Amino acid sequence: MQEFVYIIASVLFILGLKRLGSAGTARQGNMLSACGMGLAVVATLVGSGFSWIWILLGIAIGSAIGAVAAKKVPMTGMPEMVALFNGSGGIASLFVGWASQVNPPGGQLTVAQAIPLYLAVVIGGVTFTGSMIAYLKLSEKIDGKPVQFKGQQIISIALLGALLAGGLLFTFNFSGVWIVLAVLLSFAFGVMVVIPIGGADMPVVIALLNSYSGLAACAAGFIISNTVLIVAGALVGASGLILTGIMCKAMNRSLSNVLFSGFGSADAGGAGKDVEGEAKPISADDTYYILESASSVVFVPGYGMAVAQAQHAVKELGALLEANGCEVSFAIHPVAGRMPGHMNVLLAEADVPYEQLVEPDDVNPNMAATDVAIVIGANDVVNPAARTDETSPLWGMPIINVDLAKTCIVLKRSLRPGYAGVENPLFFCENTRMLLGDAKASVQALVTAFKE
Ligand code: TAP
Repeated sequence: MQEFVYIIASVLFILGLKRLGSAGTARQGNMLSACGMGLAVVATLVGSGFSWIWILLGIAIGSAIGAVAAKKVPMTGMPEMVALFNGSGGIASLFVGWASQVNPPGGQLTVAQAIPLYLAVVIGGVTFTGSMIAYLKLSEKIDGKPVQFKGQQIISIALLGALLAGGLLFTFNFSGVWIVLAVLLSFAFGVMVVIPIGGADMPVVIALLNSYSGLAACAAGFIISNTVLIVAGALVGASGLILTGIMCKAMNRSLSNVLFSGFGSADAGGAGKDVEGEAKPISADDTYYILESASSVVFVPGYGMAVAQAQHAVKELGALLEANGCEVSFAIHPVAGRMPGHMNVLLAEADVPYEQLVEPDDVNPNMAATDVAIVIGANDVVNPAARTDETSPLWGMPIINVDLAKTCIVLKRSLRPGYAGVENPLFFCENTRMLLGDAKASVQALVTAFKE
């Protein structure tokens, strides 16, 4: 019966994942996956001989922390929370592995159990400290810049070598010493993997750590022969890897380049050409006149829209433009914001119609024929240096070509660079106007102008 319920849960996970693939069905997909996880938890509890009191206590504490954290976290803090959750998944798998060494399932460890046990401890440990560093960097509790020093890669390779050797020795005598060593070495390795990665590469790291947390859970599933943990872990591992690939492609970088190049550090090369010129400010009233006569407008949201919480005002402006006979679309860059799908989530929250959301590849070919591109708190994802300046650190990253629109209006508070710390020549283009100020206030001023 338990295995049967596990199969149903696995099918729900897969259907849920499939539905998460499009904004229109994502909520339903989330629900299906949550139901699958609920079924899996109930089946595990009913089929186990555990003392219920401990399990219920764990569920109560975990659910309370999860519910309060998810309710309290602002949209801009989501990536940090994802990092923390990845880390929690990693440390949970580490504990399952460690506990199984102390108290082997079936009384005596076999080599077939020892291998996944060691993997669960190592991958879980790397995921835990790696995610904690990612959390500290994203929440700016420590400097987000890449930390690089002489001999860093040699230390990393030595740690990896020691972990492999420890794993080999563990399969001979199953001694707890190798597990304690693996915990310490994997913690150190997790730190070493994430500190050299900085700034704009964090999305890739988060996706990769997410994948690691799945692989660790999968290994833990093999130790305790829990089918649904194996399936769920494998799904998270594989989808995290696919997401990592998508993120790398969106930034036109290889995974090894992301992990080892120290992008964003002073000596990573590619300082970029000096950006010169004079930015031309514009008032909300003048922006209104431009928009009022436009027949096509593309909104390009970025992290600043999330900070300003401007999505509802943006949706209202879009609706007013449409009512004025204008063709409106929202171009979403895969790494805009601070987490995968950040902009999709915000716009979905504001009920922007899904059919108005377009990808860079769909919008770029028509950009030259677009009357107005409005950039709402986006910066790196619209930086034309990625296309025009071979010395720029952003060189090669696909961007949304707002600089090619007939008029480009940029809403932000200053001329400061974006997350990657790279100057943006867009602000000084002939056809660009800067509507400076908080994005929500600026968009609301435009909405008021339209209504009046
Ligand atoms: P960013 O390059 O981060 O730029 C955001 C801009 O928003 C800033 O230049 C800031 O300029 C402006 N801003 C902040 N608060 C504002 C407010 N209240 N009102 C108006 N503007 C405001 O944004 P992006 O173009 O979305 O690019 C995302 C970057 O983050 C990429 O480099 C990406 O690689 C990285 N990243 C992405 C992720 C994921 S998964 N999406 C995760 C981590 C990092 P002012 O200060 O002048 O206002």
